[in-house]
Amino acid sequence: MNKKILVTGGLGYIGSHTVVELIESGYDPVIVDNLSNTRPEVLDGIEKITGKRPVFYDFDLLNKNHVKQIFDEHPTLEGIIHFAAHKYVGESVEKPLMYYENNLMSLINLLNEMLNRDIRRFIFSSSCTVYGLPDELPVTEQTPVKPAMSPYGNTKQIGEEILTDTAKVSDLEVILLRYFNPIGAHPSAEIGELPVGVPQNLVPFITQTAAGLHPELRIFGDDYDTPDGTAIRDYIHVVDLANAHVRALEFLETEKNKNQVEIFNVGTGKGNSVMEIVNTFMEVTGVKLPYRIVGRRAGDVPAIWADTTRAETVMGWKAKRNIADALRDAWRWEKKIRHIQ
Ligand code: UD1
Repeated sequence: MNKKILVTGGLGYIGSHTVVELIESGYDPVIVDNLSNTRPEVLDGIEKITGKRPVFYDFDLLNKNHVKQIFDEHPTLEGIIHFAAHKYVGESVEKPLMYYENNLMSLINLLNEMLNRDIRRFIFSSSCTVYGLPDELPVTEQTPVKPAMSPYGNTKQIGEEILTDTAKVSDLEVILLRYFNPIGAHPSAEIGELPVGVPQNLVPFITQTAAGLHPELRIFGDDYDTPDGTAIRDYIHVVDLANAHVRALEFLETEKNKNQVEIFNVGTGKGNSVMEIVNTFMEVTGVKLPYRIVGRRAGDVPAIWADTTRAETVMGWKAKRNIADALRDAWRWEKKIRHIQ
């Protein structure tokens, strides 16, 4: 029998790609998603790629009865991958209570129900944002966590603390995956990112601009202390990131985890500047992208990228795809949803 895994936020951007990789690795994902930032058609995309249509609950994890119902109906769950959360830095500054309530209460409701039933394995979507403005580059898992720069970032830090404290008094086995910048889409173009409203993140804004939805890309700052003056991030293909979750589950199954809470950076280990992303996009797609340099965006760090040694040596995971692959896949997806030839 396939191993059942609950995937919260399983119709979202990273969640849907992880569901595909889980199915292709022989798992049986059960999805819960309140559709607050995605569409039910994502399920069709998952089915087209894998030939399987996972069980899906359109439930909100803030509703304790609904959380209980899912666990009641799936008594053989072997673990949880928890993606469901609000994720926009700017919006979190405007609506802090919405972020704290949604991101923290959903986590607490899940944990309460898990501990009642002796389900132990938990994989949490954390973020490189916990490193704030780092003193050293690349950042390792030992790089100190800095005060959060937004309520969103704070929910990731507090989420890590809630899990760490709970593990101390239970049999919980936790993996905290600190994601760097996920980009790209499934190479089949059946699933990808579906930003609601005007995208705040770089790559969806680039692909939408190339598709003619915006007159130009604004590059936020070219006066950083970096080789070309634009900010540096570690951009990871979403399929590689999805695979890190499968590896994390396998790692817990082999019981090789030495600590009840294991932390891994999930990036490529390579930093790229905004300008490099823009130029690579134009190279691989042949599309000319109109852009303009404007002032820095408040809250942006000049540069951050991951040291991924720990994920590689301890968990046996490494990113396989590069930014050219990711940008090509992101553009294929954008063209598909905009019906561009
Ligand atoms: C941020 C958060 C990250 C969060 C992610 C999702 C931090 C440090 N990181 O990533 O935790 O998960 O958002 O929302 O808070 N840029 C432009 N023009 C644009 C858009 C972006 O030049 O139109 C630049 C940004 O200034 C930045 C880079 O592109 O240098 C990447 O930006 P973005 O994609 O928004 O991701 P982060 O801010 O790194």
